[in-house]
Formats: sequence, structure tokens, C-alpha cells
Amino acid sequence: MPDDEQQTAPKGMIKKFLALPADSVGKTFVVAVAVCLVASMVVSAAAVALRPAQAVNALKDKQINILQVAGIYDPSIDVLEAFEAFEPHVLDLETGEFTDAFDPATFDDRAAADDPATSEALEEDPAGIGRQSDYVTVYLLRDDAGAIDKVILPIHGYGLWSTLYGFIALEENGNDVFGLQFYDHAETPGLGAEVDNPRWRALWSGARLRDDNGDLQITVAKTAPAAGDEYHIDALAGATLTSVGVDNLIKFWMGESGYAPFLENLKAGGV
Ligand SMILES: Cc1cc2nc3c(=O)[nH]c(=O)nc-3n(C[C@H](O)[C@H](O)[C@H](O)COP(=O)(O)O)c2cc1C
Repeated sequence: MPDDEQQTAPKGMIKKFLALPADSVGKTFVVAVAVCLVASMVVSAAAVALRPAQAVNALKDKQINILQVAGIYDPSIDVLEAFEAFEPHVLDLETGEFTDAFDPATFDDRAAADDPATSEALEEDPAGIGRQSDYVTVYLLRDDAGAIDKVILPIHGYGLWSTLYGFIALEENGNDVFGLQFYDHAETPGLGAEVDNPRWRALWSGARLRDDNGDLQITVAKTAPAAGDEYHIDALAGATLTSVGVDNLIKFWMGESGYAPFLENLKAGGV
């Protein structure tokens, strides 16, 4: 092909394409592909650009939840500043003791639960979590005299449609519940998502985990356990399956595979 013909070929192709009728199959296809390409590039660029902001917001949301479950959230106070009230520690679940092997400021509980080096596949898995991290980040709240006032423990487990992630706040004795709050789940609004209803969450305040013999009695169910009302959280109406999930996860995390060694350590004054 002569040089001048080669240069005009693309121009000629564009002219030919523009000259096609608007409803031609070829033109419709090319325009649709072009629109999809441009739109997907815009969405991808936005997703990448917003990722750091999303991570910051997710962290802030988690911190607000920890402040709320501990009963010290004040919207007028900067979250980062308020969060300094907590003393974070990475806990070795098996020993029930804190470990210096990880920095609590950067330790990622969810990543640790996925990493075979720091987690175990569960054979008995009542909470439906598959793998359990050997280490978790817990938060201590101290009173003005420096004594432990509350401990905030992360918990998670499967409901009906999703894994619910949250925190339980216990009084300094490690047995009385101060509060419970989930910050991430996909249960149905109006049904399982009623775990977020302040009236249901209020039922947790004052509940006890173990009886005087040290047996775990706390139960989320429609009727109170034989041990008594102080161990009973009423199941959500119309959402028995999510309630069963919460019952399972709370028993798992408060039991021997969860925080029992830590709570014994706390009770014995070892924390
Ligand atoms: C679309 C749809 C969404 C539902 N979402 C939930 C849910 O998030 N949690 C739950 O426990 N039950 C949910 N249910 C209801 C359960 O299927 C089941 O009926 C209920 O848990 C039984 O609770 P009840 O014994 O208190 O009635 C849903 C049902 C439907 C049809």
C-alpha cells in the first residue's frame, strides 16, 4: 500500500464507521463495548482511589463500636482521641496471656485467622468460622486508679446468612456482661439484623456467663436455661436462626476454645 494511502486508512475506517446507520449491529456493538470499557475504567479507578479512605473508615467504624460497647462513646469527641482510653493487647488464646510477638497497633485479627501460620482449622466448629486464629486483639479499659474496669473481646460466628463480627464487653470480674455489639453482618433487616436493635442489645447488660461452679450457662434462646434468668438472653422474634448462631458463637468464644483461659487468668488477678 502506498504511504499516503496507509496514513488515510484509519481516518477512512472512522469515517466509514460513523457513516454506518445508528441501529446497525456493528455500530451498536462497538459503542456498547466502548461505553463498558470507559465505565469499567472509571469504576476501577474510583475503587482503587477510594480504598485507603475505605480502610480508614472501616477502622473508625470498628473503633466507634468498641467505644459504644464499652459505654463511653460520645459523638462530640474525636474517635481517635477517645479510643486512646483503651489499652490494646494481642492475646494468646491457648495460654490466656498477652503476647509481645505482635504489635497490637498493627495486628490484623482477620488476616491472622486466614494465615495457617497463626490459625488452626477447627474440627469442632459450633460458631461456623472454619479457622480460628491463635491470637486476637483485646482491649482493656482502666478506671482512674489504673484498675481494670472492663475488658472488650472480639467475637464472631455464623448467623443465618452471614458471619457476624462484634465485641462483648465484660466487667472486671470477667463474668458479668456489660454489653454486646456487632459491627459487621448481612442478616436480614427487620429479622436477623435486629441484633443491632438497642432494645435487644440492652438484654445483654447484666447477664452472667458462668454460675458459681464455673459452668458456662449463658444462653440465647426463647426460654431461660434451668440455671436461671440471669444467664438468659431472649431470642429475637422471627429470627430464631440468627439467634441460634449468636448462642453458638457466644458459647464458643466464652468457652475453653475461646476466652476461658484468659477469663480465668483475669479472675486470678494475672492480667
Ligand atoms: C427473606 C427471608 C429472610 C429471612 N432472614 C432471616 C434472618 O436474617 N435471620 C433469621 O433468623 N431468620 C430469617 N428468616 C426467617 C427464617 O427462615 C425462620 O423462619 C426464622 O428464623 C424462624 O424464627 P421464629 O421461630 O422466631 O419464627 C428469613 C426468612 C425469609 C423468608
